[in-house]
Amino acid sequence: MTTNCSPETSSAATARGPRLALPMLGHTRGSRSAQTCHFRCGDACLTENPSTSSAPAFEQLAQRAIARRSLLAGLGAAVVAGAALSPDEARAAGSGRGQGKGRGTRADAAVSAPGALAPAGALAGFAPVGPVAADVDDVVVPDGWDWHSIIAWGDPVERDAPAFDLDAQTPEAQAKQFGYNCDYLTVLPLGGSGKRALLVANHEYTNENIMYPGYVDDESLTVEQRMTSMAAHGMSVVEVRRDGPGSPWRAVPSRYGRRITASTTEFALTGPAAGSDLVRTSRDPEGTTVVGTLNNCAGGTTPWGTVLSGEENFQGYFRNTATPDERNAVYGISDTGRGWDLGDERFDLTKEPNEVNRFGWIVELNPYDPFSTPRKHTAMGRFRHEGATASVAPDGRVVCYMGDDTGGQHMYKFVSRDRVARNPRQGRDNDVLEHGDLYVARFAVEGDPTSDYDGTGEWVPLTRGGRSMVPGMTLEEVLVFTRVAAAAVGATPMDRPEDVERNPVTGKVYMACTNNSGRREPGAGNPRVRNRYGHIVEITEAEDQTSTTFTWALPVVCGDPSDPSTYFSGLPASEVMPIACPDNVAFDAHGGLWVSTDGQPGSLDLADALHHVATDGPERGKVRTFLTVPVGAETCGPVVDSVEGSVMVCVQHPGEVDGASIENQVSRFPYDGEVRVPRPGVVQAIKRR
Ligand code: FEO
Ligand code: CA
Ligand code: CA
Repeated sequence: MTTNCSPETSSAATARGPRLALPMLGHTRGSRSAQTCHFRCGDACLTENPSTSSAPAFEQLAQRAIARRSLLAGLGAAVVAGAALSPDEARAAGSGRGQGKGRGTRADAAVSAPGALAPAGALAGFAPVGPVAADVDDVVVPDGWDWHSIIAWGDPVERDAPAFDLDAQTPEAQAKQFGYNCDYLTVLPLGGSGKRALLVANHEYTNENIMYPGYVDDESLTVEQRMTSMAAHGMSVVEVRRDGPGSPWRAVPSRYGRRITASTTEFALTGPAAGSDLVRTSRDPEGTTVVGTLNNCAGGTTPWGTVLSGEENFQGYFRNTATPDERNAVYGISDTGRGWDLGDERFDLTKEPNEVNRFGWIVELNPYDPFSTPRKHTAMGRFRHEGATASVAPDGRVVCYMGDDTGGQHMYKFVSRDRVARNPRQGRDNDVLEHGDLYVARFAVEGDPTSDYDGTGEWVPLTRGGRSMVPGMTLEEVLVFTRVAAAAVGATPMDRPEDVERNPVTGKVYMACTNNSGRREPGAGNPRVRNRYGHIVEITEAEDQTSTTFTWALPVVCGDPSDPSTYFSGLPASEVMPIACPDNVAFDAHGGLWVSTDGQPGSLDLADALHHVATDGPERGKVRTFLTVPVGAETCGPVVDSVEGSVMVCVQHPGEVDGASIENQVSRFPYDGEVRVPRPGVVQAIKRR
């Protein structure tokens, strides 16, 4: 999503036709189209909300490290850290991304895998695709692979849902159909046959201009259309079935089918800030029940089979945004014209000033129980959550890594107070994420420059033992205004921290910093004035996930490899494929790192993609493109099965191109030949046998 792009860059792909009255048209930064700026993040670039932390900006530290690291290029110095897998971690490798039968097989493979070298297992030796131009309206997969659509916007999810009808969209229908702009994706085993699974997807935001016949501008939207968009946000649970391993998944009607929406679903607010004065409203005087979730971006799957979802750009959904609490200023709360208050007045902050404090959380959903009440966990802090990925530490505590996706914001870690069982049962709720310590990362460049690390860091506590660690702020204030607390303790401003995930094989943690073109002042010796292309941060905890110190390195500084400001762990440009704006990170059972992108069209004039990135051994830093998505789309939520040879992704916002409109579409994804609009959806690529 959002806030840091560069004004000199225009969208690579445009459509002929009437231009929308979009505030960012001609002013977009970096990789964004004006449509993206408007519909996804509410023209956030028009407002500034940098961290007030006094710590050196991460990009300055990073560039110093890049300069030092370049001295090491060619030495082949990368070494596998080789952190041992706990039984829980080994199991997580097989269950968190599991697809039915074979979980044990994948866990075994993970334990015995050498680390993240070249693509392994069924992915070994795949023929990279592309580079593919940004205006190609197709899903491109390697030779020897086929792809198909599993489900798309408007398809029935709940059993009594109507079929999609472009001309008869209603809030009631949408609340039972697959939502718009799917992002995070996970597939959880159902039963033991390997033929059934639960697919869970996030629905981040809506593109009204290519959804509704008759759209002219935001003012032209009817209240019913606005409420339909509201219902198109949230999450979906879909049962999928197949004939057996290696066969394509297909969506089926099921009692598990469930929509979670911004308008209809009740959430329980948990943790220390639940019930506080900061989250009470007239409709919820107890401050414990929130209706809806919104802007659900990335996420994670817990070892006990629940799904975490990050409420990201919650700041752009409210009217009359001059909130009385100045601590919300750093969140950039702004009226984006969605007009949800016309159908639900709690989105008018003059009527419900605390409603905005009830979004921006990590959500937990148990997809195995269609009647479960999803939760929002206040112990994990409130910010523009990209996502959260959970793993179990050797002592049984659960650790979640999290990014706050805005230029100059921070990276966080939650460590639970309580422990989970060694073999938590799938789909059984627990309250382990309701209490724990919240940390924020502070990076430094220290140590021996000839060693195999680039810097050190510490996790600075914001809360510990149920108490605030931030002078002048109560526990509730730290959790509701977490950005303020992080700045107060000197957290490191970073280049839009997106997805963060732990490699279940090596134990190292990888974070995608997608870009930060807002930076105008380079650091000393900094070869890259603007970080238009982003980079990947590798973190090695001192001991395990609960450690409070770490070392860090940058295995990949993204861009066109011919650009001297890029860095691919010392590999020559001829051996590397271009990559830009990394967003989601995921691991396969062999420890292979997969990185999906959101911004290659605007930054490299290439289609957004899913890449394999080698993190260890002589190929460390090597990028191989596995697939690309249609014009206007970003690649989201990769689920990579390196045992069976299956790769699933969400195709988010196909056709989101400046100038596109309901009558002038640039994409017809998923190409079903009947519907006149692009429909965001889930695809699966399968290795041909
Ligand atoms: Fe919704 Fe940070 O991407
Ligand atoms: Ca994104
Ligand atoms: Ca994202």
